[in-house]
Amino acid sequence: MSVTQQQVLDALAGVRSPRGVPLTNANVLSPVTVTDGKVFLSISVDANEARAWETVRAQAESVVRALPGVASAMVALTAERKAGSAPSRPRAEAGVAPAATHRPPHSPAGSPMARQAEIPGIAAVIAVASGKGGVGKSTTAVNLALGLRDLGLRVGLLDADIYGPSVPRLTGIREKPELNDERKMIPIQRFGLAVMSIGFLVEEDTAMIWRGPMVMSAITQMLRDVTWGTLDVLVVDMPPGTGDAQLTLAQNVPLKGAIIISTPQDLSLIDARRGLAMFKKVNVPVLGIVENMSYFQCPHCGTRSDIFGHGGARHEAERLGVPFLGEIPLHMAIRTTSDAGNPVVVSEPDGPHAAIYRAIGASVRDQLKGAIAAA
Ligand SMILES: Nc1ncnc2c1ncn2[C@@H]1O[C@H](COP(=O)(O)OP(=O)(O)OP(=O)(O)O)[C@@H](O)[C@H]1O
Ligand SMILES: [Mg+2]
Repeated sequence: MSVTQQQVLDALAGVRSPRGVPLTNANVLSPVTVTDGKVFLSISVDANEARAWETVRAQAESVVRALPGVASAMVALTAERKAGSAPSRPRAEAGVAPAATHRPPHSPAGSPMARQAEIPGIAAVIAVASGKGGVGKSTTAVNLALGLRDLGLRVGLLDADIYGPSVPRLTGIREKPELNDERKMIPIQRFGLAVMSIGFLVEEDTAMIWRGPMVMSAITQMLRDVTWGTLDVLVVDMPPGTGDAQLTLAQNVPLKGAIIISTPQDLSLIDARRGLAMFKKVNVPVLGIVENMSYFQCPHCGTRSDIFGHGGARHEAERLGVPFLGEIPLHMAIRTTSDAGNPVVVSEPDGPHAAIYRAIGASVRDQLKGAIAAA
């Protein structure tokens, strides 16, 4: 029998706020989501009190996990700064940390900047992003991660698209992450990759309403409360777009670089430019642009047709002085293998598409060499 929302709330009533108030009366809880025994909720508090609340968050998570019928529980702490309270760090311009504070070398754990600190064991975290949705970001992220794996690197894949996680479908992963003795989530191993997605905890089609700070809190947990082990590269599949949520993410995840996915159409390139501008704002180097659905390759005769007017991304990359990482054709095999949870680099490792993803991977690896070698 699956747990009910009421049972979760009853359990939470037994946890006290730092001021001794039952959690359910403290006016800090988001609605509780329960799907197939997977429980999610968040606690929203003032950023100045966040440290005191971390213990409460952990307690809440453990009482919920202890309930019969709970398969997994995630309680996210959302810290919001009240207007007029002291800023956590100097600001260069609205909402953007200056370069000097972007990656503090030694931030004390629990400080507001700690979440930007590098993740122990992971040499390089890179984002796969796009200005608009549906350009093939997730497909590219998964196949690029596999391409990097083929080059002999230890690779992880984090699905940060909490609005529409697609990594469970692309990798065919149905199971839920288990917890270790320290209550950290153990990523799912698939195709030699360590994989984590909010979709493992929440159903793909569950409508979730995420407020900005909740997004960050959930992603921070997926970065830091997961036993990633030793990785050369962690590939992060970003949510589409360049809005506030994406900016906060780019700003708060310790990224070594970003890859922008674009289709050849002009409109998408305008969006790609927005993506470039966003990463520039937060001092994250853009490792390059990938042109996806670059040309149509007939699955029967192999003839190539440039239906979208091909080559736009290459020109744009040259104009902006950003590396051009490669062209991926629009091909049936790429879509069908993705939908079947068996990405093309795995299902057709000797085929032309796998070779393209490996070549893109090689160019990404070369740019990250310093970071990977230093790890
Ligand atoms: N090169 C390609 N050839 C054929 N189909 C592709 C290619 N790239 C992506 N697709 C298909 O296009 C669709 C959208 O791709 P995908 O989900 O990777 O995009 P996305 O940018 O991550 O989307 P979202 O913005 O919703 O996260 C999927 O059905 C995928 O299989
Ligand atoms: Mg996607």
